[in-house]
Amino acid sequence: MKRPEEIFEEARALIEKAADGAAVEELRIRYLGKKGELTALLRQVGEIAPEERKAFGQLVNKAKSDVEQLITERKKAFEQAGQGLRLKAERIDVTEPGREIPAGARHMITQTIDEIVGIFMSMGYSVTEGPEVETVFYNFDALNASPNHPSRDLSDTFYITEDVLLRTQTSPVQVRTLLAQKPPVKIISPGRCFRTDTPDATHSPMFHQVEGLLVDEGVTMTDLKGTLDAFAKRIFGAGVKTKFRPHFFPFTEPSAEVDVSCFLCGGEDPSCRVCHGSGWIELLGCGMVHPNVLQVADIDTERYTGFAFGLGVERTAMLKHGIDDIRLFYENDVRFIAQFY
Ligand code: DAH
Repeated sequence: MKRPEEIFEEARALIEKAADGAAVEELRIRYLGKKGELTALLRQVGEIAPEERKAFGQLVNKAKSDVEQLITERKKAFEQAGQGLRLKAERIDVTEPGREIPAGARHMITQTIDEIVGIFMSMGYSVTEGPEVETVFYNFDALNASPNHPSRDLSDTFYITEDVLLRTQTSPVQVRTLLAQKPPVKIISPGRCFRTDTPDATHSPMFHQVEGLLVDEGVTMTDLKGTLDAFAKRIFGAGVKTKFRPHFFPFTEPSAEVDVSCFLCGGEDPSCRVCHGSGWIELLGCGMVHPNVLQVADIDTERYTGFAFGLGVERTAMLKHGIDDIRLFYENDVRFIAQFY
């Protein structure tokens, strides 16, 4: 039979060498468990001479409590070490500078539309939208386009069926609005348009326009000029001048194209990248709403007159920001986009 002190020494050496808490627990079972070595000794007390029993029992109990104490200490040591490691691993440096998350931004086209729309809203216009898939009626017929108007051509327009097409302009919204609400009407309408253009630096088969329409009693060309001049000054700078050149559009009479004086060089620089030395930049089309258009909506053309205008969003953005290729808007190259955050 092993002596309690012997067993204690053995246990002490093993507990010291234990690699982790689980190993210590195994030793606890081995020595102090129900079938543990020290527990077994107590059961063998009957084999001991009666006069030695008491002393033997005391030795065993002492060995047991000593082993127990060693085990408790060792377990605690492992626990503390583990906690230390965890704390170290989970440590947060609250003084570390934050990591920058790249923020998204509105696309240049959206920014430009918002700016244009914002200017007109401040003049009391409300915003309406129309469908991108249109009918020939709204896109051409109701807009007084003659049956042989070149833009109707299959080679210029994306037809879906004979009567349905991708709108080539935002002008059909004029007709939809006039049919839906009675004068006074004062709306602008931004949106996508489509033409069968081959992409190059200034053409894209998909592009954006903003349409404007005002119909009321006593509206004259002066109102149109004042409105668009105010708009040009807001978007390009208070110093710009506007020039109205006679033009033709089927849905306006008279019609005009509006040029703005070059906001970059003021006409001083023959090699100006914006006006190419001419001093003027073509900005938009406009005119007094043709009576035929008003009549589509049964509007009394003796009582009501109106003006309309349409401008290209890409063109406006290109002029404003010195962008020289329309395709840059749609390629979504971050090196381009990030310049306009
Ligand atoms: N829809 C014309 C185009 O796409 C632009 C335009 C010109 C719109 C004159 C108008 C306008 O409302 O009055 O070329």
